Amino acid sequence: MSTEPQVEGTLSVTDSRTGQTYEFPITDGTVRATDLRQIKTSDDDFGLMTYDPAFMNTASCRSAITYLDGDAGVLRYRGYPIEQLAAKSTFLEVAWLLIHGELPTAKELEGFEKQIVDRMVVQAEVGESIKAFARNAHPMGILEAGFGHLSTLYPEAKQVESGPERMEAIINTIAKMPTIGAMAFRHNQGKDIVAPDPSLDYSTNILKMFFGADYEVDPRLVRALDILLILHADHEQNCSTSAVRAVGSSQVDTYSAVNAGIAALYGPLHGGANEAVLVMLREIGSADNVSDFMDKVKSREALLMGFGHRVYKNYDPRATIIKGACDDVFEVTGVNPLLEVAVALEATALADDFFIQRKLYPNVDFYSGLIYEALGIPTEMFTVMFAIGRAPGWVAQWLEMIQDKDQKISRPRQIYIGSGERDYVEVSAR
Ligand code: SDX
Repeated sequence: MSTEPQVEGTLSVTDSRTGQTYEFPITDGTVRATDLRQIKTSDDDFGLMTYDPAFMNTASCRSAITYLDGDAGVLRYRGYPIEQLAAKSTFLEVAWLLIHGELPTAKELEGFEKQIVDRMVVQAEVGESIKAFARNAHPMGILEAGFGHLSTLYPEAKQVESGPERMEAIINTIAKMPTIGAMAFRHNQGKDIVAPDPSLDYSTNILKMFFGADYEVDPRLVRALDILLILHADHEQNCSTSAVRAVGSSQVDTYSAVNAGIAALYGPLHGGANEAVLVMLREIGSADNVSDFMDKVKSREALLMGFGHRVYKNYDPRATIIKGACDDVFEVTGVNPLLEVAVALEATALADDFFIQRKLYPNVDFYSGLIYEALGIPTEMFTVMFAIGRAPGWVAQWLEMIQDKDQKISRPRQIYIGSGERDYVEVSAR
C-alpha cells in the first residue's frame, strides 16, 4: 500500500430515485464517504451519507503503524511480525519503532531508554491526590484521574503543533503511565508509594514500584512482563485508540487525549476483558464445570470473556505467544491452577459449532491475566497493565493523527429520528 491513495478502479452506482448514475474512484479498497454526497434528489438535498453504527465498515484514517489481517491472524508493527518482536525486541525498542517508524540504532535506543527511565518519576501532588481515593477504588478510575492530572502539570502540551512539545508529552506518557498505575496499586494495598529507580530498566522498575524496592526480581519474570507489554503496545483502530484520535482531533493536549483512551480501555468489552476473564475462570472454578458454563454462554446468559474479536476471525496471534509465555512464568512461580480451566474452556470452544460458526477464538485477554496473577498482580490491576502496554500505541497513533493533513476535528453526522417541530407546553397544561 503506497502512502498516497492509488486509484484501483471506479464504483458506478445508479440512484433509483432519480435514475442518475454516478462513478466514484476506488482507492485502497475504499470509496471516499464524502464523494457520496454528490448523490442528491434535489439541489437542497444534503446528499447521501453512509450509516455505520460502531464503524463496522468504516476506515477512519490512513495509518502506517500497525497492520492486522484478521482472517490470517497476522499482526505487524511497522511491518515487523509480532512473533519476531516478542522474541527479539524489548518494550521500549517497540515503543520507539511505533513512534518513529523504524527500529532504533543502538545509540538511539540507549538514549531513549535513559530518557524514559529518568522520566518515570511523577510529581508528589499526583500521589497526594491519589490518597484522596477510597482504599478500594478501582485502579483504572485512579489511573484516569492521576494521568489526567498531568495535563495540568504540563500546560505546554497544549501546543500540539510544536514538535518538541509533542515529543515531551509522548515521552512523559510512556514514562509515567506505569508510575501512576503503581501509585494506584500501592494505594489499594494501603502501602507507601515506591519511587522509580533510574538505575533499573523499565520493566524491573514496574515490578519494584508494585511490590517494593526490596522485591527480589527474577529476570525471567521481567522478560515475561516485557513481552506482555510488547504484545499490548498497539492494535490499529481499536476502541481506545479511536477514542484517543477522536478526542485528540479537538487539539486538546496529549495527556487529555490519552486519558480518553484509558477510559475506553476500562470497559469489559475492551481492555477490561482481561480482568473479567479471571473473574470468569474463578467462577467456573474447575474444568469439570466448563460444560455447564458453556451451556450458559450458548443460551446467551454469559459471554466467554477473552474470546471473540471485531477483526480477528482466527486465533489472535498475541494469545498464542502469551500462552507460550505462561510456561516460562509458571516455571518460576508454579502453575496457576486456573490454567487448567482456561485450557479446558479453549478446547471446548474450538470444538463447538456455536463458536466455530461465529469464528470466536481466544484473544489477547484470554491468557494474559494468568500471567499477571502469577506475577502477584491482583485482578483489578490487569487493565492498568494493558494501559501501560498500550501507551506507546496511543501516542504513536495520536502523533500520526495530528500530523495527518487529511484529518480535522472528528464530528460524525446522524440520522435524526426524533420529533418534528412542536411548541412548548406550559407545565400547567401538561
Ligand atoms: C480487546 O479492537 C481491538 O483490537 C481490541 C483489542 C486491542 O488490542 O485493542 O484486541 C483488545 O479489546 C480484545 C477483546 C476483549 N473483549 C472480550 O474478550 C469480551 C468478549 N468478547 C465479545 O464481547 C466480542 O467478541 C467483542 C466485543 C470482542 C467483539 O464483538 P463484535 O465484533 O461486536 O461481535 P458481536 O458482538 O457482533 O458478536 C458476533 C456474534 C454474536 O452472536 P450472534 O448475535 O451473531 O448470534 O458472536 C457472539 C455474539 O453474541 N459473540 C460471543 C462472544 N463474542 C461474540 N458469544 C459469546 N462469548 C463471546 N465472547
